[in-house]
Amino acid sequence: MTSVLIANGPNLGRLGSREPEKYGSTTYAELVSLASGWGDELGLDVEVRQTDDESELVGWMHGCVDSGTHVVLNPAAFTHYSYALRDACAMVTAAELELVEVHLTNPHAREAFRHTSVVSGVATGTIAGFGVDSYRLALSALAARLR
Ligand code: DQA
Repeated sequence: MTSVLIANGPNLGRLGSREPEKYGSTTYAELVSLASGWGDELGLDVEVRQTDDESELVGWMHGCVDSGTHVVLNPAAFTHYSYALRDACAMVTAAELELVEVHLTNPHAREAFRHTSVVSGVATGTIAGFGVDSYRLALSALAARLR
């Protein structure tokens, strides 16, 4: 079965209680359970992780390269400035693995500092602005490309 890591960056473990007017009321635990159901429907073996630590996230990208695992990534604030994460993501797509960047909100409709993504240029594609449904859409796009 095709393996997909859904990797979430800083503060996303607080989903549900963090600025719910922006990020919604679905908790991180609920997202994990929803994602695993979507994976089952799409025939994908989905694992969901979250970290506040840049080096850990970079290490997870290395692991995906080594294990041939596709990635759905919400880089959270790292989106906007982490060249280390960008370089790690570039290794994922260079290995011909899919990497879909996702955001709950639409960063382009928010503060100017969120308008730049250093990850987008090395991602397969980006889905943003659909709340937790962004993750479902990302998994579905990924499954369609692999079919
Ligand atoms: C986010 C958008 C980022 O700008 C922000 O720093 C996040 C979440 C989103 O999912 O909308 O933490 O990636």
